[in-house]
Amino acid sequence: MASFEPDNPARPPAGVWLCALGEIADPGGKSFRFRDGARMFAGFVIRQGEEARGYVDSCPHAGWPLAPMDDRYLTRDGHHILCAGHGALFRLDGMCVSGPCEGDHLHDWTVEVRDGEVFTA
Ligand code: FES
Repeated sequence: MASFEPDNPARPPAGVWLCALGEIADPGGKSFRFRDGARMFAGFVIRQGEEARGYVDSCPHAGWPLAPMDDRYLTRDGHHILCAGHGALFRLDGMCVSGPCEGDHLHDWTVEVRDGEVFTA
């Protein structure tokens, strides 16, 4: 079952510490995975300066994970999130601007930064 389902028991609740913001390249991304028995939730966090945005690691086109390797979500210029599946490009706010799912949005995984640390929200 897809990891963006809201009833996925592996999706962490609000308030779970993820990492220090400084552990994420600026700009850059970081992969996170949580398990609950056989179920898995995969998400990633994109950093831009002091801001962090979280998304479910599932492309709205075909549901594949976006990155070919952990943490490798952004294009070389750092301006877009790239899905390695079929080359869709997303703005850092999650909107697809090029590719087979143009106009669709990544599934939000809400996170927040508090005192330089990233938490689920
Ligand atoms: S799975 Fe992402 S573009 Fe096809």
